[in-house]
Amino acid sequence: MRILSGIQPSGALHLGNYFGMMNRMIKYQQNNELFCFLVNYHALTSVFDANLLRKQTFDAACDFLALGLDPDKSVFWIQSDVPEVTELTWLLSNITGMGLLERCHSYKDKTAKGIPASHGLFAYPVLMAADILLYGGEKVPVGKDQKQHLEVARDVAIRFNNTYGETFVVPEPDIEDNFATVPGIDGQKMSKSYGNTIELFADEKTLRKKVMSIKTDSTPVDEPKPIEGNVLYDLYALFLDDKGKAELKERFLTPGLRYGDVKKELFEVIRDYFAPYKKERDRLAADKQYVLDIMQKGARKARQAAAVYLERARRNVGLDYNN
Ligand code: TYM
Repeated sequence: MRILSGIQPSGALHLGNYFGMMNRMIKYQQNNELFCFLVNYHALTSVFDANLLRKQTFDAACDFLALGLDPDKSVFWIQSDVPEVTELTWLLSNITGMGLLERCHSYKDKTAKGIPASHGLFAYPVLMAADILLYGGEKVPVGKDQKQHLEVARDVAIRFNNTYGETFVVPEPDIEDNFATVPGIDGQKMSKSYGNTIELFADEKTLRKKVMSIKTDSTPVDEPKPIEGNVLYDLYALFLDDKGKAELKERFLTPGLRYGDVKKELFEVIRDYFAPYKKERDRLAADKQYVLDIMQKGARKARQAAAVYLERARRNVGLDYNN
């Protein structure tokens, strides 16, 4: 199956990105055809500093590779290295109803958070649909916050096929219940724009500070702690299997548990989990040309796959005027 997903290089990647998408993609690469990309065109909707965008794009590439994305098994590239995606965006734009885009929560949420209300931000879901349809993505692993965008991509694919004849695969969202919405340290969805993230490769001091500031309730020490809506429990559970989760639950329900102790423990769990990847990440970051070569190679493979769908779309809408 062709599995495809993208991530914005719009800031340091965090636990929400990792469990919602990155780790799941890395696991999928074993038995599937994996297409994974860094969406720097999308990041232009919120990053207006060219040097910062360059840096964040390179950093995100290092992060993904260090975490185990295998560029020989998968197609891994930077969105803007296949600029054909912007051409497809235009073809899709003309069959995308305004109402469909007007209903998107993400546009409203982002403008409410201070991201400028530009045409690019409004048309963001069309570019995202193009990302998926250009490569014939069948299954798209994402967090729940992308569910509506996936619905737009499906609608657009169906509308295009109905208007111009069978052209695109209609993609399916793939959201994993356990990781649908990873909470941030304040209990809202973990998000770069809420400033509530736990970054994957933060230094120890920052990581400790973040973990120690996870929001907890004021249940007295000698009472059982709630599980439902408990951010500390939810974040810890990300790192546990079913047995581990059952044990953690038991500890929370047993009077005497101190949140402060659990936080210290969780700090160590996160630090130790990412420690081996961090070493590899530092190695990659110091070998820029090596990483750039990998991304170039990925772009060549992606471009080949894109040609099939773009040619078909151009023909089906009638841009092949010489025929
Ligand atoms: P982005 O860059 O905001 O996030 C990347 C991925 O991480 C997931 N995610 C989360 N999952 C669970 N809990 C969280 N707190 C959390 N925060 C982020 C996101 O759901 C996403 O899967 N529009 C996309 C990027 C994109 C894309 C695509 C995705 C562009 N083109 C084509 C799939 C297919 C975005 O902004 O993701």
